[in-house]
Amino acid sequence: MADIMDTLMQEAQKISSSAYAPYSKFRVGAALLCEDGTIVKGVNVENRSFGLTTCAERNAVTAAVMMGHRKFTALAISTPDSAEPVGPCGACRQVLGEFMKADAPVRFAGSGPQQVNTTIGSLLPMDSLHELRNK
Ligand code: THU
Repeated sequence: MADIMDTLMQEAQKISSSAYAPYSKFRVGAALLCEDGTIVKGVNVENRSFGLTTCAERNAVTAAVMMGHRKFTALAISTPDSAEPVGPCGACRQVLGEFMKADAPVRFAGSGPQQVNTTIGSLLPMDSLHELRNK
């Protein structure tokens, strides 16, 4: 899993330059690993009606689901606009939890050397409605 996490992080870093973030100037890239090995990426897309902004992580999920994927086994998130690692927002944690098992690895990084390695279960503890989760 170590190598694939490095690959995912490289993909997240590369795609972050495609973010549309003219308001916050905070670009984010996400790379999801699908069960069959496909990597699907996403960036944040902002809007002048600020509430319509969508995060990189949810855009990656939407793209992957649209392509027919339903299970994701790992995720990396990268932003060049913070020295510190930036983890997924609460809304994205809930959406990711729909398609990822609790032990699925998540790595996030900023422009500095620090990287956080965790799991979706740690980011979304006591996952409510887990009994309704898509198996
Ligand atoms: N953002 C993401 O895309 N993912 C995160 O994990 C944190 C925040 C975006 C939303 C908004 O476009 C900008 O970063 C500032 O919050």
